Amino acid sequence: MASKQVHLIAAARPNFMKIAPLYHALNAAPWCEPVVVHTGQHYDFNMSDAFFRDLGLPEPDINLEIGSGSHAEQTAGVMVAYERLLAQDAPDMTVVVGDVNSTLACTLAAKKLNRPVAHLEAGLRSNDRTMPEELNRILTDAIADVLWTPSPDGDENLLREGVPAERISRVGNIMIDSFELLRPKIEAENSHEAFGLTPGGYGVVTLHRPSNVDHPETLTLLIEGLTAVAEQMPLVFAMHPRTRKSLERLDLMTRLQSASGLHLTEPLSYIRFMSLVLSCGLAVTDSGGLQEETTYLGIPCLTLRTTTERPVTIASGTNSLATAQDMLSMVDKILAGEWPKGACPDLWDGRTAGRVAEDLKSRLA
Ligand code: UD1
Repeated sequence: MASKQVHLIAAARPNFMKIAPLYHALNAAPWCEPVVVHTGQHYDFNMSDAFFRDLGLPEPDINLEIGSGSHAEQTAGVMVAYERLLAQDAPDMTVVVGDVNSTLACTLAAKKLNRPVAHLEAGLRSNDRTMPEELNRILTDAIADVLWTPSPDGDENLLREGVPAERISRVGNIMIDSFELLRPKIEAENSHEAFGLTPGGYGVVTLHRPSNVDHPETLTLLIEGLTAVAEQMPLVFAMHPRTRKSLERLDLMTRLQSASGLHLTEPLSYIRFMSLVLSCGLAVTDSGGLQEETTYLGIPCLTLRTTTERPVTIASGTNSLATAQDMLSMVDKILAGEWPKGACPDLWDGRTAGRVAEDLKSRLA
């Protein structure tokens, strides 16, 4: 097979651990020339470069440097810039991952030029259309040519929406590949020591969804809930820039800084963060990825949302939806050892990138 050029679209923090294993698999394949296109949606060192470094990704071949903005500004900015790139240098396939604004923007730009697109982590649905990511998922999946799903619910959602079965391939969860690729480094890192914490004796917190952090009342309730939990079990709160800005605006930072048992930190690099997760006894989050990583590792996870697009983490894993009000009683259950142990979903085995590469090869042949 003649060499095929494949664009891998990397945009925001949760994309990098999905791109990396695929980049490594495709780069090792004689038939493929992967090109890393960074849209620049995330640009801070600790939201982007630190991940490229930890995951062994090369400097992006192309950076569209879009940066922050409103949804329309960001989506439109990526569309215009990616369309220009495609006009100069169209690849044999554009691979988009996840559900961020750049995922949809690159898909739309490519499909309007009749260029093929594959979506990795397709088919996830929260059924909550007030979530920007849900719109990105539905629209991307409606027009992409190839849909790589992580779990059976993904296939079912796509079939229900009328996607032809031959476009769908279940490949498993690519995030687990990143974890397994870096497991030796993650195990050697011992991030908890820097906070003076003991394995199993602390929780990890991440929060960044607009529905949680953009509304003063909701965020205040969550902070009250977290400070109460921290009295029972120390927490490390790795703070997203969106959340930090909201907390500063609402004058809540000093309250958090003085709360007992609460350790605040900047966003951590992949290895440092996953090391902290690997040794924790609890995660409290609104992230998609952390729901999956904790299910894989068998760690109790409280998801501060009313829905999840990853129902398998609840049905067979260690995840539960939670509210500011009920998280304390859930933590009591966890501390009493009464939390479900969970099981690892099928095909979350660290070999997803190989399956994606094989499927891509046969579709491009
Ligand atoms: C985006 C994704 C979300 C994903 C999250 C992970 C969309 C709609 N949302 O949300 O699905 O879970 O990334 O982080 O695509 N900022 C910085 N430095 C950066 C990046 C952002 O300071 O490197 C600040 C900016 O003030 C920006 C705000 O964070 O306005 C939000 O960034 P943005 O990319 O719009 O969305 P996220 O909340 O990160």
